[in-house]
Amino acid sequence: GMLMVTARAPTNIAVIKYWGKRDESLILPINDSISVTLDPDHLCTTTTVAVSPNFESDRMWLNGKEISLSGGRYQSCLKEIRQQAGDVIDENKGICIKGEDWQKLHVHIASYNNFPTAAGLASSAAGFACLVYALSKLMNVKEQYELSAIARQGSGSACRSLYGGFVKWAMGNDVNGSDSIAIQLARETHWSDLVILIAVVSSHQKEISSTTGMRESVETSELLLQRSQNIVPKRIKQMEEAIRNRDFTTFAKLTSADSNQFHAVCLDTSPPIFYMNNTSHRIINCIERWNQSEGTPQVSYTFDAGPNAVMFAPNRKVASLLLQRLLFYFPPLPGDDLSSFVIGDQSI
Ligand code: DP6
Repeated sequence: GMLMVTARAPTNIAVIKYWGKRDESLILPINDSISVTLDPDHLCTTTTVAVSPNFESDRMWLNGKEISLSGGRYQSCLKEIRQQAGDVIDENKGICIKGEDWQKLHVHIASYNNFPTAAGLASSAAGFACLVYALSKLMNVKEQYELSAIARQGSGSACRSLYGGFVKWAMGNDVNGSDSIAIQLARETHWSDLVILIAVVSSHQKEISSTTGMRESVETSELLLQRSQNIVPKRIKQMEEAIRNRDFTTFAKLTSADSNQFHAVCLDTSPPIFYMNNTSHRIINCIERWNQSEGTPQVSYTFDAGPNAVMFAPNRKVASLLLQRLLFYFPPLPGDDLSSFVIGDQSI
């Protein structure tokens, strides 16, 4: 008999960025980060995991194509989940698997992203969160609170996708990473007026992965040291308070400033890393000019390790004004691929 579980996990967008590790194999960060988890209807990964005594090895397919599971990150997740596995009894199917049996049984994994992989829209976040969650259900893992520490070992940002709403990843102090986990700050319903818009500027694969980029920043950027030690701790407190109070002005200022500082760190890295392109810069300009002319932030923007813009508006009315502006000001430049606004207006 075969046992199968399907799960879905949304991606998350950091408003205070994670950039830099203090431990590469456990994936422990050099600062706390805060993110907003998107609505799973839009940017998500769907993963089916199956177990059968007939499977001879662990295998995985991503968007229909087989990929290797030999990498350390997949191996860590599989190993940790197997260690936590419980008994599974399905009388209808005549299945009885003891917790320790999982060490010998193999799984097949099929995963689909409904958005471009590695275009800087945090596909690894949704991917590993979904994988770990689906496996935990298949293997009847009891300790759900440990899942974020396991997903973290797949991809740092993945630990935040196990919760909805507003999430903080506490960097922790422990050398083994036990306290480097995600914590929900507020549920999605806490700030239901907030709208997120995403402009897919390019769906091409980024040139430098986050993993490589942050390694090079840690090695060469003094600005990153300054940021992680002296700037982010203050911003985390301010951001937590802004979220608690639904204070859009503070939330917007911090979000844009932190994105800009992250990209400044990329420029401060040697050799410099460019994730944003000309279209990204024009989107920033367009928003900054609007905010300036109104005297207070109408909307904010943030960019991860790629050129796509994620924008926040305080409500649907302002979101639709933003959309109008962007569409009006954006006759695409030659060579730019401003293909679509994937999300018209998305309430979280
Ligand atoms: C810019 O989580 O993709 O999106 O831990 O090496 O897998 P690894 O990196 P990843 O980095 C995300 C970086 C970021 C900022 C963020 O999401 O906080």
